[in-house]
Amino acid sequence: MDAASAARPPEPEGAVIATRGLTKRYRGGQLAVDGLDLTVPAGSVFGFLGPNGSGKTTTIRMLMGLITPTSGTARVLGSPMPGAGRTVLPHVGALIEGPALYGHLHGRDNLLRYDAADPTADPRTRRARVGAALDRVGLTAAAGKKAKAYSLGMKQRLGIACALLQPRRLLVLDEPTNGLDPQGMREIRSLVRELASDGTTVFLSSHLLDEIEQVCTHAAVMARGRLVTQGAVADLAAGARGRLTVTTPDTAEAAGVLKDQGAADVVTDGDQVTAEPPARDLAEVNAALVAAGVRVRGFGVRRASLEDAFVALTGEGFDVAG
Ligand SMILES: Nc1ncnc2c1ncn2[C@@H]1O[C@H](COP(=O)(O)OP(=O)(O)OP(=O)(O)O)[C@@H](O)[C@H]1O
Ligand SMILES: [Mg+2]
Repeated sequence: MDAASAARPPEPEGAVIATRGLTKRYRGGQLAVDGLDLTVPAGSVFGFLGPNGSGKTTTIRMLMGLITPTSGTARVLGSPMPGAGRTVLPHVGALIEGPALYGHLHGRDNLLRYDAADPTADPRTRRARVGAALDRVGLTAAAGKKAKAYSLGMKQRLGIACALLQPRRLLVLDEPTNGLDPQGMREIRSLVRELASDGTTVFLSSHLLDEIEQVCTHAAVMARGRLVTQGAVADLAAGARGRLTVTTPDTAEAAGVLKDQGAADVVTDGDQVTAEPPARDLAEVNAALVAAGVRVRGFGVRRASLEDAFVALTGEGFDVAG
């Protein structure tokens, strides 16, 4: 064992996905994923979060055996990928960068054809299986419509239905809400929650922080091909401090008092002044504002979000990587 692998944490029992030092350098020289140690607990809804170009799809393609890593290892459902693909992949439903659909076929016929391409699928139960999958994603009423006439959200659902034709232990969804309007995003989120409620582990990627916060139990954050942090979503956000927020018409005076009280990073936005809370009793800070004649209409610490955690960890905004 070399020094680098000796330093890596051991693979935990019960992890549905575990990678160690997983690295991908594309032929052009682009280092897309760099030494990734990812641990996805069984039964989690795991958010794989990162700005555009941070290496999410590349990681997912390695996990699914679609491309080979430059170095490092990936285990899915306890077996090495890509080596064990033939035994692992039947238990995994995947939707990567949008579904490949036949536009001229109806939704139902797309699923029938997809199911027929699976040599392990019993043709006698095909119609029932397809009907159940349509029902699960809420497409029964639209099943007779041509796929090219589907909205983006309906196409995504049809793609997820493909992944649900067989019972799965793991669902891997790459940006399942990409391009959807807020209503479509809400629908996919509630579908994900529903799928997870029967114990299926769901691994989904997104470049949207609040989406991950709303639906995931666990998350990993990527930036420029590297893992920034991973863990339970509640713990990740708790790692960052919330911001002290004062609502007042007297913002200039309030900002001055907050600085005098030792608050850092004081920012004024409209009728709100926010700052990193100083290390003292906040009741004293509030009293100092009032004593200085600031009309305080609101005072409190806003709960830290995943975005605060990301900014605190990387020192960068959550923007596209170069
Ligand atoms: N086939 C390829 N050949 C060369 N470089 C690639 C290839 N695919 C991706 N890359 C590069 O690897 C990096 C990571 O890309 P990747 O698609 O994994 O990011 P991502 O996190 O999925 O981004 P997005 O949120 O935009 O989907 C980017 O810099 C990208 O340009
Ligand atoms: Mg991607």
